[in-house]
Amino acid sequence: MADWEPELYHRFRRYRAEPVELIFARLRFTRGAGERIVDLGCGTGEHTVELARRSGGHAHGIDSSPAMIDRANELRAALDPELRARVAFVREDIREFSAGGAYTTIFSNAALQWLGDHRAILKTCFDALVPGGEIAIQMPANERETAQATIAALAAEPKWRERLGGAATPSRENVASPETYREILTGLGFAAIDCFHHTFAHPMAAPAEIVEWSRATALRPFLSRLPVEAHEEFVSDLTRRLETAYGTSGPLTFNFRRLFIFARRPAV
Ligand SMILES: C[S@@+](CC[C@H](N)C(=O)[O-])C[C@H]1O[C@@H](n2cnc3c(N)ncnc32)[C@H](O)[C@@H]1O
Repeated sequence: MADWEPELYHRFRRYRAEPVELIFARLRFTRGAGERIVDLGCGTGEHTVELARRSGGHAHGIDSSPAMIDRANELRAALDPELRARVAFVREDIREFSAGGAYTTIFSNAALQWLGDHRAILKTCFDALVPGGEIAIQMPANERETAQATIAALAAEPKWRERLGGAATPSRENVASPETYREILTGLGFAAIDCFHHTFAHPMAAPAEIVEWSRATALRPFLSRLPVEAHEEFVSDLTRRLETAYGTSGPLTFNFRRLFIFARRPAV
C-alpha cells in the first residue's frame, strides 16, 4: 500500500480527536517521572507528546510509515527541551514490538485495525507491561454504517469487482466484537477489563466529505488496488452512491462507531 498522507489524515483532526479525549479522560497517571508509555502506530505523534506532557513521564511512539515518523520527529524537534527529552519516535512495525515488563501504559489509537492476529499483539502487550500497567486501545469498528457498507457493495459490482475483489475495510477485516476481546484478554491474564463500542456523531457538510474522510483511511485498501487514473472514477461513483444512500447531497450526520479496550496487568 502507498505511504500514509499526513495532511489528508489531519483534515478531520477535530473529529478524530474525540476518541482520544475519551481515552485521556480515563487514564490516571500516578507514577510521575516513572511513567513509561508506548504509543503503537503513533502517526504524526501528537498523542505521544500529549501522553508525555500529561503523565510527567516518558512516551515513545512507534510507526512503520516513513512519512508519519518524519512528521512526528519534526513535532518533537519543536518541543521545549524538557518535554523533548521525554519523547522519542522510532520507525518500527508493531509486529516487531516487544519489551519485557518495560511499560506502565500501552496506548494505541486507530492503528491496530490495520493488523491481524490481535491475540498475539495483546499477548505482547501483556508481556511488555509492568505489573499494574494498563492498555488503552481504540479501533474504528464502523463497517456496518452506510459509508463502509456502500464501499463494500460498490467494490463487489461487476465494474469494479475484478480489480477490487478481496479488498475490505480494515474494520471488517481485523476488528472483532467487544465480547471477543473480553475473552482474549481474560485468557491472557488481564484484569479490570472494559471493552465497549461508542458511536461518535460528526456533522458533515455533504456525503462528499465522508468520502474525503474515508480516503485517508478505510478507502486505502481499495484505492491502492486501482491505478491512480481510476481513483477519481471510483471516488465519484462512491460519492453518487452515498448521496442516494443518505438521501442528500447536503449536510448530514456521520455516525462513527469505535471499539475501546481498557485492561490492566494484575499488580501481583
Ligand atoms: C489512522 S493512523 C493513526 C495515527 C495515530 N495513532 C492517531 O491517532 O492519529 C494509523 C497509523 O498506524 C500506522 N500503522 C499501520 N500499520 C502499522 C504497523 N504494522 N506497524 C506500525 N505502524 C502501523 C500507520 O502508519 C498510521 O500512522
